[in-house]
Amino acid sequence: MRQPASLDLLIALRELLGEAHVLTSGDLSAYEQDWRKRTRGQALAVVRPGSTQQVADVVKACAQANVSIVPQGGNTGLVVGGIPDNTGAQVLLSLQRMNAIRAIDADNLTLTAEAGCVLQNVQQAAEQSGFLFPLSLGAEGSCTLGGNLATNAGGTQVVRYGNTRELCLGLEVVTAQGDVMHSLSGLRKDNTGYDLRHLMIGSEGTLGIITAATMKLYPMPAARLTAWAAVPSVAHAVKLLGLAHQHLGAGVTGFEMMGQFALRLVDKHYPQLRVPLWQDTPYCVLLENSDSESEAHARQRFEHLLELALEDGCVSDAVVAENLSQARNLWHIRESITLAQAEEGLNIKHDISVPISSIPRFVEETDALLTREISGVRLVNFGHLGDGNLHYNVQAPEGCDTQAFLRDHEDRVNALVYQSVKRFKGSISAEHGVGSMKVDSLPHYKDPVALALMQRIKHALDPQGLLNPGRVVR
Ligand code: FAD
Ligand code: MLT
Ligand code: ZN
Repeated sequence: MRQPASLDLLIALRELLGEAHVLTSGDLSAYEQDWRKRTRGQALAVVRPGSTQQVADVVKACAQANVSIVPQGGNTGLVVGGIPDNTGAQVLLSLQRMNAIRAIDADNLTLTAEAGCVLQNVQQAAEQSGFLFPLSLGAEGSCTLGGNLATNAGGTQVVRYGNTRELCLGLEVVTAQGDVMHSLSGLRKDNTGYDLRHLMIGSEGTLGIITAATMKLYPMPAARLTAWAAVPSVAHAVKLLGLAHQHLGAGVTGFEMMGQFALRLVDKHYPQLRVPLWQDTPYCVLLENSDSESEAHARQRFEHLLELALEDGCVSDAVVAENLSQARNLWHIRESITLAQAEEGLNIKHDISVPISSIPRFVEETDALLTREISGVRLVNFGHLGDGNLHYNVQAPEGCDTQAFLRDHEDRVNALVYQSVKRFKGSISAEHGVGSMKVDSLPHYKDPVALALMQRIKHALDPQGLLNPGRVVR
């Protein structure tokens, strides 16, 4: 039974947004269940405001009723941070209706869009104006710009263009009090005090609700070439990265590494993708070279790099995509690892980072530790080697009950991996964020002073604890 105060709030929300945009019945699983289907919550209501003013009005109404709010974009997050808890008392605020591209300023090289814009639509809007918006990730067909900012998403182009944070020049944010912070300036230099934009980016909906953003655009490269290389070890992959930086400079726009078992899963579940070179090598690397001159120039430089790498022994075999469709297929293989893992069954995900120079030793020592401590585990190791971020995932032993495996081993696996990350001075979350999945681990791995400051910031900006409570910090 809903409490009378909640009923008053529902009436107020319906007045603000109209019946159609305050959902309390029917199938709400798209909003209430996380992407990996690990957790299902229950909302008091799913609200779908269509403007910044409506978001502000909803926040004010919730603050008055002392009801907490979970902001949500595309619900592709991987740390259970964007769905309601199971109390039935939280309002799930979906930004999906706020999906307009507000402006493209060609001379300023910026694009301003609303938070609910699907990332792929932002990329396409930039492309139609002749520019590149470089943020790119496997979920780009459904994740939103607001979600990308709230999680400071990484993806496959970070090695050249940085995380979402580095691409953002301004934000429009609704505060926990329902005020609107208008900071969509698009300025590349502005030293008028604290940079609140950076506080909001990566705050996972706990400090404010992002309603729009001004993002950087880049000139479209004249050519983008993709190669797939077999490498004898992680150390050789790191050496290849060094060679690529040396010979291609800023041309290195993608550098992904994939372990043999990760590719075996893609081959098993999506044989039509025809994964190249994976059977005879422990790791493959996907490299992308962007060139501002011409395709011929790009190809000549790329082939020169691969010849050097073959001579040097850090590559044992390689293919360069002949055309765009072959390049897309190679990227599709890489992006299908997450889905192939999901097909294989429940698994334990990590998105750790360590300094690139430490990655070979991290992998060697952590592989040995896990296989020694937990019999039969299968390691799915892949990720964004170019920026030091690995998806060092753990799949249950073949044929075992995956629910039981997770119940019995998830905490232990996480502790082993996180302690190893700590030994190598890394981070337990390089890109997916903390959400509710890592909120209890964070105090063990974050500097205590930094954590205490985070708690004080949360309290200062959201004293009622209304915005996404229980996520990131407690
Ligand atoms: P949601 O899942 O809806 O929300 C994520 C978090 O942000 C929640 O805490 C939510 O409360 C908050 N939030 C959402 N919108 C707002 C807003 N407007 N204001 C304030 N808070 C908000 N992530 C990477 O970093 N790199 C990858 O390469 C990558 N690849 C992926 C591949 C697949 C197949 C999948 C399923 C996920 C992948 N992810 C990756 C994770 C996910 O896509 C990103 O975290 C993405 O940025 C989330 O966007 P979203 O719109 O789906 O956010
Ligand atoms: C990726 O890089 O593919 C993602 O971050 C998703 C994942 O970790 O599965
Ligand atoms: Zn990733």
